[in-house]
Amino acid sequence: LPTHVHVTAHEASKAVANEIADLIRAKQQKGEYAVLGLATGSTPKRVYAELVRMHKEEGLHFQNVVTFNLDEYYGLPSESLQSYHHFMQENLFRHVNIAHEFCFIPDSDMPQALVKTHCEQYEKKIEEYGGIDFQLLGIGRNGHIGFNEPGSHSSSVTRLITLDPMTRSDAAVEFGGLAAVPRKAITMGVSTILKAKRVVLLAWGEHKAGIVKQAVEGPVTEFVPASYLQGHNNACFVIDETAASELT
Ligand code: F6R
Repeated sequence: LPTHVHVTAHEASKAVANEIADLIRAKQQKGEYAVLGLATGSTPKRVYAELVRMHKEEGLHFQNVVTFNLDEYYGLPSESLQSYHHFMQENLFRHVNIAHEFCFIPDSDMPQALVKTHCEQYEKKIEEYGGIDFQLLGIGRNGHIGFNEPGSHSSSVTRLITLDPMTRSDAAVEFGGLAAVPRKAITMGVSTILKAKRVVLLAWGEHKAGIVKQAVEGPVTEFVPASYLQGHNNACFVIDETAASELT
């Protein structure tokens, strides 16, 4: 699994934003959609900020961009401040000229009886747009990608999952306490992610160093879902020096 180590997260984010911008422009020239798989959380924020800057200062346009987010908390109204709908509006969508109807995020505000059909439709939608060209990922301290928690099968698809205790405790600050963190979420599956033509996983900081080592150098195992990326032919890790500090 190729790893690209940058001195700072800022430089790394710029490099990744440039790759995304190049893809968007190349697809524009061919009159095609650029289909992006997007992550939330603290890690990709600077990538989005850089894309917004390129839109404002360098004329990067998003008319041909279609996005599919990895995940959303289940049972959380999309207007709430902690929702990934809200995150994407604030960090990217409202700052660029992307078409609202091209921005797909799992809809978690629905009765459980409708979830299965919704997840199937999400997978179908991705296929309709020709699959994901570029998938951006973060990594949880437990090795999750999207909300594919330890134990997720490599053939898993978009589905309702139960959040891991570590995931919930890492989210507690944003929800003002553990009790308010949702217990479930809808996430793209491991197979959904592995079908993307290109996958770039970002990780910054010392607290990610241990899991980065396991994902890159350890065995491919369901206990570290990010290790599944070792089996992808066009995946890489883009990390900063602190996240790389345990690599041999
Ligand atoms: C978010 C997601 C998660 C995060 C991961 C890291 O859409 O799918 O897998 O990427 O939990 O979160 P941060 O970046 O906040 O450390």
